[in-house]
Amino acid sequence: MMLWSASRLTASAVRRARGLAIVMLAITALTALAQVKERPIPRLAQKDGRYALMVDGAPYFILGAQVNNSSGWPGVLPKVWPAMEFMHANTAEIPVYWEQFEPKQGQFDYTVVDTLLTQARAHQMRLILLWFATWKNGNPHYMPEWMKLDTARYPHVVDQNGRPADSPSPFAAASRDADAKAFTALMRHLKTADPQRTVLMVQVENEPGTGGNMRDHSPEAEKLFNGPVPANVLKAMNARTSAPSPNWRDVFGQDAEVCFHNWAVAEYIGQVAAAGKAAYPLPLYVNAAPGTHRCAALRDPAKPDAPGSYENRPPSDNVVPIWKAAAPAIDMISPDDYARDATGYVRTLDIYHRGDNAVYVPETGGSPRFFFFALGHETIGFSPFGMDFTKTHVIPDAARPKAELLQPWALTGVKEFIAPFAPTYALISPMARDVARLNFEGKLKAVAEEQGKLTQTIPFGAWDATVSYGIWARTGSPAGNPQPMGGAMVAQLKDNQFLVAGFYCRVDFRPTAPDKRRQFLRVEEGTYENGVFKFIRVLNGDQTDGGLDFSSDPLVLRVSVATY
Ligand code: DGJ
Repeated sequence: MMLWSASRLTASAVRRARGLAIVMLAITALTALAQVKERPIPRLAQKDGRYALMVDGAPYFILGAQVNNSSGWPGVLPKVWPAMEFMHANTAEIPVYWEQFEPKQGQFDYTVVDTLLTQARAHQMRLILLWFATWKNGNPHYMPEWMKLDTARYPHVVDQNGRPADSPSPFAAASRDADAKAFTALMRHLKTADPQRTVLMVQVENEPGTGGNMRDHSPEAEKLFNGPVPANVLKAMNARTSAPSPNWRDVFGQDAEVCFHNWAVAEYIGQVAAAGKAAYPLPLYVNAAPGTHRCAALRDPAKPDAPGSYENRPPSDNVVPIWKAAAPAIDMISPDDYARDATGYVRTLDIYHRGDNAVYVPETGGSPRFFFFALGHETIGFSPFGMDFTKTHVIPDAARPKAELLQPWALTGVKEFIAPFAPTYALISPMARDVARLNFEGKLKAVAEEQGKLTQTIPFGAWDATVSYGIWARTGSPAGNPQPMGGAMVAQLKDNQFLVAGFYCRVDFRPTAPDKRRQFLRVEEGTYENGVFKFIRVLNGDQTDGGLDFSSDPLVLRVSVATY
């Protein structure tokens, strides 16, 4: 008896001691959290039709890099951070998988997200999380198993032959509510786990929509398609029709299915986003895949009339207003710009560069010089896809000029894919905050080389900046590069002072006043350190007599000009 009560005493003492230890640990953790100074929540600011992502109270430029689809797991992260550092990225775009996050309905597993936060901080990296949930490239492949096995409750789109397609139905209320609940849990967790604001934005879904089908043909969808177009869509699209209570076909004719499906997907995602934003108001965006019909947009902007494909069901590049009306909690519709040619690339940027839409390029491939096209469209950031050392590159780099691939580090195999972006990021990285600020103030312009265009002119009031491509002698004329690879940014610091940087080009200035000529007062080469221009040397003589030459090395110049 004695023995029994002694062991009972011991057991309860142990329990008490354990309880005390847990309380102590919790207090220590809470104290540590309280010691982390809570920073302002990142937000999108708008001024005079331009945008900035405000991070820690000031404009931030996203030098982004998106990892491969399956690289968001803790076991793979050792192959992620070195790639980010090699590239000079400041922000990693990494997926959060719904199937991992909610393995059993209503039970959320925060361990992977927490690992991302901890490791990103240890590598001084910010994050953009990609919520791979109902839609991933138009498919439901990241839905948790408990959903995949219950397609009656979480149905797929029904195709025009009445068969289920490999795409989730936007009319599935149970799927939408489950997604909204999980997304809210994620955002609520970030709110408490991330006072440092390591996470800057969240992408809601990934290239949503439906591949291979124009829309859902389920009975519910049919009923809605043949029913009246909602008033907010009519207003957003500025649609005029004399039909009373017009249906989608009446209003949009041959574009009816595109508009209808975009509306349905936007409504769904709008509700998921609103729920998450109510928990934690980070900027949210949806990534669109121009050139496919599985998404927030659009026909191929460069080939809008190509027959025999989606592009011959015009137009789809007019649906952004539907998204703005149906999903107001989504701050940006952002193009995955994989156009391989300059015309297509720029056309895509043009479409999304709207007063009501900040430009952000969340996925891209092709030539690194396209960075300057995006910068010229006042982008808040740029993020090439497939940037890690897992050797799972899926983007062919055929679009990249050979010379860009022949950097010395290209010979090291896996780095070859990432290397072409490194010099551009190395150039911008030390002055990324200044670039974002100058962009927001409307003082920064950028151009990139286009086939057959040897010279471009950038107007700055009393001065025109001229950018010519190719390296040539001090006298003579520009010849263009063997393949287009040049790019330049010019920012006006004062009336007669400019910040100039670029690659494979020559920049000069020309007074717009007639009969005046330019002279360089001072051309300073420098580097940025914590946003401060650190003077290295004055360039003169052969280095400036023909203009300001930029080669393969990152070079930043502060240039003062005068007329004579
Ligand atoms: C675009 C998608 O958004 C990415 O997740 C990835 O699948 C790439 N395409 C691969 O090409």
